[in-house]
Amino acid sequence: MDGNGRWARAKNLPRSEGHNQGTKTARAIVEESRRLNIRHLTLYAFSRENWTRPKEEVSFLFDLLTRFLKGELKSLIKQDIRLNILGDISDLPLTARKVIEHACSKTKSNRSMTLNLALNYSGRWEIVRACRLILEQGLSANEITEEKFSDYLCTAGQPDPDLIIRTSGELRISNYLLYQSAYSEFYFTRTLWPDFTPQELHLALEDYASRQRRLGGTDPK
Ligand code: IPE
Ligand code: MG
Repeated sequence: MDGNGRWARAKNLPRSEGHNQGTKTARAIVEESRRLNIRHLTLYAFSRENWTRPKEEVSFLFDLLTRFLKGELKSLIKQDIRLNILGDISDLPLTARKVIEHACSKTKSNRSMTLNLALNYSGRWEIVRACRLILEQGLSANEITEEKFSDYLCTAGQPDPDLIIRTSGELRISNYLLYQSAYSEFYFTRTLWPDFTPQELHLALEDYASRQRRLGGTDPK
């Protein structure tokens, strides 16, 4: 979800307005994804690198997240969406953490869609964390397969992403789902996140549907 700051700047508004608007996009995209029966949706909300932003912006983002989750909980329950966090929330402000834990526990039995929020997440951190967990559990070298390794990632038990969308014209992966994205398809758009619409989600999905995923093989007959 990139481009909130640039969206605000183009309108001569404070960056916080871009983030506010970004939550409206997030709500609309979650609802549309659920309606389309997408089973797993992940939103990259805050990276481990985002702590380097001015502390006022960081605290605004966590306040906004707290308000957002409080406001959305009923609707998540109604839509049968399970909220799940990728990342380490122990570093987050206490109020944010409590609201996150509450929302996760209230939605944990929901089955129609898993909404992953990547929070204080980065792909390299996740891979190193997996290695540490594996060593702590005393697994032997020959027990560690690619599949087994996946069980130690934040996304354990979930399929790899089919499609990754990045908004705002940046052509980078920025430490996102590095292990899981080995064969993901990418959709890059210049649209800034606050301007991203369900219509453009449809375009991305149509584009995805027109691609041939060979997964390292040759063309199917
Ligand atoms: C949003 O957009 C995402 C978050 C990290 C919360 P940015 O804040 O990165 O916006 P730009 O890149 O400055 O436009
Ligand atoms: Mg950005």
